Amino acid sequence: MKLVKLIANLGYGSRKEVTAMFRSGRITDANGEVLYADDQIEHDQIRIDDEPLDPPAGVLLMLHKPVGYTCSTKDHGELIYELLPPRFRLRSPIVANVGRLDRDTSGLLLLTDDGALLHRISSPRHKLPKFYEVTLARDLKGNEEAIFASGKLMLESEKEPLAPAHMTVISNRQVRITVTEGRYHQVRRMFAAVGNHVETLHRSQIGGLMLSDLMVAEWRMLNETERHLLFTQPPP
Ligand code: URA
Repeated sequence: MKLVKLIANLGYGSRKEVTAMFRSGRITDANGEVLYADDQIEHDQIRIDDEPLDPPAGVLLMLHKPVGYTCSTKDHGELIYELLPPRFRLRSPIVANVGRLDRDTSGLLLLTDDGALLHRISSPRHKLPKFYEVTLARDLKGNEEAIFASGKLMLESEKEPLAPAHMTVISNRQVRITVTEGRYHQVRRMFAAVGNHVETLHRSQIGGLMLSDLMVAEWRMLNETERHLLFTQPPP
């Protein structure tokens, strides 16, 4: 791919703007030698204003989504893209969130520009478990674990029952839920269906990948080990 197109696709500007960046000498190699639009050079050797070029297509990153942020490129209020470099929203293909966490939910959110990978992570067919830490407004009744595990729970206005979900009780008002689907407001609606109300919801893990010590509102690229971990199946 021509350098101008490559750099424009990474969100640095339109092709016209990137051409102007070449002309003004802002694009160099690692030794500070000015590059020209037709040069052939390894991706990791390119610098813009002395900074390494963003990674090429195929990125996968994790974000610790705070409460109050919406998973959207354009919506009212605060958006998850405000927590990432502005270029990520302008890349082609765009770095998109893998599934959604609702505005009032915090925790592990993955983003990628790889459509096949996005599908592999989010499609219910692949049954990748997602782990949620839940606090409830009312005490558990005692039958919730069996209802969620039954594979028969029907949510309002849905045509298919939910796939079995696993629940671990931590205390009367605190549980961990593991689901393999990503239906709209699924965990909140599951508890509404059994007469309870979710007060706080936090996703701590997807597959074998944990949020661990990533601070709220922080993000980072996943390395090869973490990508692999994502698809290892931990016990529920
Ligand atoms: N279930 C919900 O209710 N909300 C989320 O954001 C994720 C799962």
